Amino acid sequence: MENKPYNAKKYWESILESDFKCFSVGFVCFGKKYNDYLYKMKERSLKRVISRYKIKNLNEKNILDIGCGTGFYVNIWDKLNVKHLTGIDITSISAKRLTIQYPDYFFYEADIGSQNLFDEVPLVKNNFDIITAFDVLFHIIDDDKFEQAIKNLHCLCANGGMVLITDLFLHKTPYILYFQKCRILSEYMQLLTKNGFEIVGRHPVHFLAAAPLDISNFLLRRVLLRSWWKAIAIFERKTHFLGPILFILDLMLTKLFKESPTVEMLVCKRS
Ligand SMILES: C[S@@+](CC[C@H](N)C(=O)[O-])C[C@H]1O[C@@H](n2cnc3c(N)ncnc32)[C@H](O)[C@@H]1O
Repeated sequence: MENKPYNAKKYWESILESDFKCFSVGFVCFGKKYNDYLYKMKERSLKRVISRYKIKNLNEKNILDIGCGTGFYVNIWDKLNVKHLTGIDITSISAKRLTIQYPDYFFYEADIGSQNLFDEVPLVKNNFDIITAFDVLFHIIDDDKFEQAIKNLHCLCANGGMVLITDLFLHKTPYILYFQKCRILSEYMQLLTKNGFEIVGRHPVHFLAAAPLDISNFLLRRVLLRSWWKAIAIFERKTHFLGPILFILDLMLTKLFKESPTVEMLVCKRS
């Protein structure tokens, strides 16, 4: 499998078709309980950003969720009573299933990195007050597509609107896997500012509960990463207590520290 080029649509379609559950796109190997807490933390992070940036009158906001997957964030926005929500995902299963689940919202099968996005789906330019791209941009391996995705985000965002991105924002050494490319922070910042965004903040989403990737030394990262996977897998298999413990620790650490060795949320404004 590793030798074949990554086909994002095929890859994600097969994952979501095998099990259309929130944690199918999380750390599947650690089980449901661990992932429940992981996703609880993701929800907290989004709500913290909403309150930190005083995002009010959500009932007047048009939301776009890129890479909406199984609809975890759709459910959150829905409960927050937003004016309207549109979701796009590279898979057809996500668009089909979420259209049935949320008939008042629009869901499209689309690749955010496509050059012809606006010909392929009826998305309106400059229309969205808040755009979220959570754990999705690092799945765009091709650099030209990645830049196109940033350009598309700019075209889609309303003047003065916000874009929230979760990624690893690595300081020095990119992390590249078959299906994932975690880019470095300076590259991200440069592309976003070049394409009309102002970076207004960056906040930790997880601290200990997700893989520690922001470690500059290649060897040290490899060792720590392996130890982290092993430790979580062993403890979680035996106890099932790690999820809640790391949730509490992450709640504190993400408040205490401005940066984390793992997933962070970047807050951008369309300038
Ligand atoms: C790791 S999952 C995250 C899903 C959801 N945002 C969450 O956090 O639960 C990545 C999602 O992005 C979608 N995806 C991957 N590449 C994409 C692309 N180029 N354009 C749109 N969606 C994409 C996948 O189908 C998948 O649903």
